[in-house]
Amino acid sequence: MSSNTGSKIKFSLFGESHGVAIGGVIDGLPAGFEIDLEYIEKEMARRKPGQDPYSTKRSEDDQVEILSGYFNGKTTGTPLAFIIRNKDNRSKDYSSLKNLARPGHADYTGLIRYDGYNDYRGGGHFSGRITAPLVFYGAIAKQYVFENYGIRIFSKIDRIGEVEDAKMDYLDMDPDKFLQVIRDKKIPVLNQDAGEAMKKEIEAARLDQDSVGGIIECVGLNVPPGLGNPFFDSLESSIARLIFSVPATKGLEFGTGFDLTRMRGSKANDVMYYDDNMRMKTRTNNNGGILGGITNGMPVVFRVGIKPTPSISREQETIDMDKKENAKLEITGRHDPCIVPRALPVIESCLAISLMELLVV
Ligand SMILES: Cc1cc2nc3c(=O)[nH]c(=O)nc-3n(C[C@H](O)[C@H](O)[C@H](O)COP(=O)(O)O)c2cc1C
Repeated sequence: MSSNTGSKIKFSLFGESHGVAIGGVIDGLPAGFEIDLEYIEKEMARRKPGQDPYSTKRSEDDQVEILSGYFNGKTTGTPLAFIIRNKDNRSKDYSSLKNLARPGHADYTGLIRYDGYNDYRGGGHFSGRITAPLVFYGAIAKQYVFENYGIRIFSKIDRIGEVEDAKMDYLDMDPDKFLQVIRDKKIPVLNQDAGEAMKKEIEAARLDQDSVGGIIECVGLNVPPGLGNPFFDSLESSIARLIFSVPATKGLEFGTGFDLTRMRGSKANDVMYYDDNMRMKTRTNNNGGILGGITNGMPVVFRVGIKPTPSISREQETIDMDKKENAKLEITGRHDPCIVPRALPVIESCLAISLMELLVV
């Protein structure tokens, strides 16, 4: 089993949804790095539950307590350990679920994998809550790559259910204008009407005792060329490893992704040229800024498919894992009708961490 990742910077994550706390240890951060705690708090707030009608009513302040590796506002270079206490953990909401596996959730696989010793409450270690430590580390990584390399990382919602946003042209964009359009929106999209339609889609699913999924598009701008270590540590592999660690992610494509397979080579190839500053550029970015697992200096772009929230209150068929018989399940706990809006900072963190790993000195 592995709750550890990273090579130059090792990150270890722990916790269960209804335990005392969740948290992590980041080992290998450079000494003397000034962490902007206000920025970290804002990033944590983007993921935390209970803020709007689209997310679970669980109320957590997601306040991070740094335990070590941080002194006088700066990293010390020794392991930075932190916890986030679980406060609103009403385990009784889940006690009736103990033996009834939620379809689409990890109750069955978790029980098999850990011989029934796993903490099942609220999904235990499989809960979306476990992404909070990842967002904390991701916020440090985002700050690091921006301050040292000018790299900017954004994401937006591309689709909720069947409702699609307008397409973004990352080759011809003003990052500040883009940020202005999406910043502080609970549903960050380019097209306001699409955003409203997405809200309705989520609300309709909720009223139907159901849930809905979607696609997040993430971009890294000003990423220097030459980053990535093929074969197994190609940048795509490193990002994918983190993305597929995030609960509920079921798809990932870089650049034009699966649609590239519909094109002829002459259209799929990103033709190259030198700009006025003798910087290599490409006319299109179908490869999402990565070739041979190495960045080419164009925006790093990928899209992540997030499935509909597995816990729904509509009655579903399932199994009773204790009695070993077929059963019916109706869930009464608190759940997101749509995970996508809260997952944006988690997905951005995966990119920031992958890049920081390659850039840190
Ligand atoms: C931010 C976030 C919040 C989540 N909230 C819920 C939730 O409220 N209810 C639920 O059933 N699943 C939720 N999930 C998804 C489950 O944790 C996930 O589907 C489950 O562990 C099974 O893993 P898999 O979907 O990756 O196979 C959430 C995931 C994320 C990233």
